[in-house]
Amino acid sequence: MSNILIAYYSRTGVTRKVATVLAERLDDAPVLELKETKDRGGVLGYIGAGKDALLHKKAKLVGYEQDLSAFDCVVICTPVWAFTASPPVLAFLEKERTALTTVAFIATMSAKGDKGAFKAMGEACGQDPVATLTLIDRAVKGDNPATMADLDRFAKDVVAAFA
Ligand SMILES: Cc1cc2nc3c(=O)[nH]c(=O)nc-3n(C[C@H](O)[C@H](O)[C@H](O)COP(=O)(O)O)c2cc1C
Repeated sequence: MSNILIAYYSRTGVTRKVATVLAERLDDAPVLELKETKDRGGVLGYIGAGKDALLHKKAKLVGYEQDLSAFDCVVICTPVWAFTASPPVLAFLEKERTALTTVAFIATMSAKGDKGAFKAMGEACGQDPVATLTLIDRAVKGDNPATMADLDRFAKDVVAAFA
């Protein structure tokens, strides 16, 4: 099994669920939850999140221990905010730009904006992902079988990239 880390940011739990299910599919891969100093809870948090994403405001991340260069691949999972990736994920990718060996991306969203998110993520870390996957929030919450099958396939694709 390859040496894979899953890093994610989640405001309301959808992307957290994706990261957790993916970790199971990847032989209990380690998971890093990205946290920022700003509170995004409630309606005000929602409005602030949209504003910060639209204005490309840089998030301040809470510190973490992991040395990202120790992993063959980091799978980065983000919710789509205002047709781009969430600011904490973009801040993480910029910060770890030189440490990341290989990346794969997952976006969760309600309808549209994954392309913009993946583009911004690639630019932030300076490399193309070995695989991408887009999942719809309702389907994740409802354990939609096709969505779970997509996650299975994605896990296999990521592992195959290092076979
Ligand atoms: C501020 C904000 C902006 C959003 N913008 C979009 C968007 O542009 N397109 C979309 O399809 N969903 C959008 N969403 C919905 C989220 O991407 C979606 O519900 C996601 O799965 C939430 O993940 P989380 O529960 O891990 O935070 C937005 C949500 C928030 C809070």
